[in-house]
Amino acid sequence: MKIFTLLAAAAASIATVSGYNVIDRQYVDISIEYSIVQTPEITEKNVAQWVNGDEVTLQYKLENNEKSVVTVIGVGGMFANPVTNEIVTNLTRGQIGPITVAPGTSSVFEQRIGVDLIPDNYQLVPQVFIAHEDLIKVVACRGQLASVADKSISFFDPRLIFLELVLIASLAGLGYLVYDIWGKRYFAATQPVKVKKTTDATKVTSTGSGYDVNWVPESHLKQKKTKKVA
Ligand SMILES: *[C@@H]1O[C@H](CO)[C@@H](O)[C@H](O)[C@H]1NC(C)=O
Repeated sequence: MKIFTLLAAAAASIATVSGYNVIDRQYVDISIEYSIVQTPEITEKNVAQWVNGDEVTLQYKLENNEKSVVTVIGVGGMFANPVTNEIVTNLTRGQIGPITVAPGTSSVFEQRIGVDLIPDNYQLVPQVFIAHEDLIKVVACRGQLASVADKSISFFDPRLIFLELVLIASLAGLGYLVYDIWGKRYFAATQPVKVKKTTDATKVTSTGSGYDVNWVPESHLKQKKTKKVA
C-alpha cells in the first residue's frame, strides 16, 4: 500500500483505527517528547493536579532519526489506573496534519485534552499515530501521573447562588412564621409596658400573682381563667 492511500484511510477514519499494535519506539527510530503547555514545569517526575473542566494542552516534539520520512497523522491515548494500568477512559482521537517529518528533522504539534473524570489519581498515556514505511503505527508516549479533582464551588457559582437564595427565602419564610405566631403577640404585649414604664413601672408590671402578666401568653392566661371557672 502506498503511503498516500494509508493517509487517506487514516484521515477518513483516525477515530476508528484499531487493530494496530502499540509499538515500542525502538522499532522506529524516532523520539517523541511532550510538555504540558499550561504547566511546563510538570514532568514525569511530578504529579499534575488537574481540575475537572480544565483543558490540558500537550506540546509534542517528534524527532525523526530514521532514513525515511515519518508522517504524524493523529493523536490519542488514555487515562489509566496508575496501579493496575487498567484503561479508565480512552481519549478522543484527533487528526493531526498530516505532518511530514523529513529524516534528521523534528516537528512540533499539539493535542488538547479536556479533563472530565471521576476525581481520582490517573496515569495519562498519550499516543501518537504515525505513518512510516507504508504502515500506520501507534506510538505510546511517556506516562504522566495526574491527580484529578472536582472544581471547588466558588461563592459566586450560579448553582450556589441559587441554593443561597433558596436558603435565604426559606429562612425569611421561617422568620416571618415565627414572628406571626409568637413575635406579634410578644411585641403587642411588651409595647404597653414600655409606655407605662415611664410613669410607674413597678405598679404596672407587678401583679399579685407573682409573675408579670405581660410576659405570659394570652392563651395561657385564658386557660387559667377557664380552669378557675370550672
Ligand atoms: C479503549 O480502547 C481500547 C482499544 O480500542 C478498547 O479495547 C477498550 O475497551 C477501550 N476502553 C475504554 C474504557 O473505553
